[in-house]
Amino acid sequence: MIPLSEPTFAGNEAQYLQECVDSGYVSSVGPFVERFEKTFAATIGASHAVACSSGTAALHVALRLAGAEPGRLVAVSDFTFIASANAVAYTGADVLLVDSECATWNMDTELLHDEVCRRARRGERLPDVVEVVHVLGHPARMEPLLELRERFDIRIIEDAAESLGAEWCSGPVAGMSVGTVGDIGCFSFNGNKVITSGGGGMLVTADAEVAARAKHLTNQAKLDGTTYHHDTVGYNYRLNNISAAVGLAQLERLHVAVRAKRAIARRYHDGLGSLPLGLAPGASWANPSYWLYSLLVYENMPGPDHVVSALAERDVQARRVWPPLHEQAPYRPTERIGGDVSEKLYRLGLSLPSSAHLTEADQATVVHALTDVLR
Ligand SMILES: Cc1ncc(COP(=O)(O)O)c(C=O)c1O
Repeated sequence: MIPLSEPTFAGNEAQYLQECVDSGYVSSVGPFVERFEKTFAATIGASHAVACSSGTAALHVALRLAGAEPGRLVAVSDFTFIASANAVAYTGADVLLVDSECATWNMDTELLHDEVCRRARRGERLPDVVEVVHVLGHPARMEPLLELRERFDIRIIEDAAESLGAEWCSGPVAGMSVGTVGDIGCFSFNGNKVITSGGGGMLVTADAEVAARAKHLTNQAKLDGTTYHHDTVGYNYRLNNISAAVGLAQLERLHVAVRAKRAIARRYHDGLGSLPLGLAPGASWANPSYWLYSLLVYENMPGPDHVVSALAERDVQARRVWPPLHEQAPYRPTERIGGDVSEKLYRLGLSLPSSAHLTEADQATVVHALTDVLR
């Protein structure tokens, strides 16, 4: 079976893990945590980075620091993995789901912008925070959100869990990496992500005070290292040294992974262009990292369930994309804006094998299998 997404271990992982064992630093204290944080911040052009036990933990802390709490409203992408909304639910804030745009599959930020302006004119409730997700390796359109921050002081959290290495290449945020444009950016190092630490996450921010507060909250809000005094309810959200060691080794080869994923995307574009498919989005203003290469089958073709099982019969693992959050049990009663784009993405979308070490021969097998299924 050609897998959907497997980690690639081709760098210093084993050496760094050995150093953890030799030094005895295997838990949440140890040199790799700080090295991972500093190198991560430098790699993506962030001022501060705080390692966390997961991407969900990073989002939870970020939202809390942005003011999400009971009585507040957080706008979230409707088309995303459920962790994006769960992190909001943990804070007790209300969720406002925002539909996707067809061009990038990301939150339709212009739609949100216009809705917020309309609500402001009528004196209706506005979101306090927007958590925008850069799905599947493609950056979201940020200008409308920057305007909302400017006009209404709406904080921006970027859920960049899936999009490490993606950037904008034109417009006001040209040259910036995902995660560094909003007030706080969050990443995941789960096993299937662009890089992995086994499990883990990172929170980045330009604000030193926010970073210090995030570090504090991830460590049970402990006031000093030796006594047990705490100034608020914190969390055990620290990343351990072993995970940080793997994460650092992976990060050292991030450029290789992203280059490989972009090459994979180019080959899928070339190989699948003549089939009845809407290929993976790639806006002219974005430089996606193509974490998971995902596409849409045409409406009149066999649906993605059929395609996924037909590919499995040909030893290719594909997977449908997420149902929109408004169709998920915990978020069914949630307020939302927009039309049916996220529903269409779910109805027609699927992801293809995208591991960074996917060989050209295996990719040709995927293309051949998909051609066979759709012709
Ligand atoms: C968009 C998105 N947000 C958040 C998360 C949560 O990250 P983690 O699994 O590290 O908690 C993930 C992936 O797992 C994700 O895809």
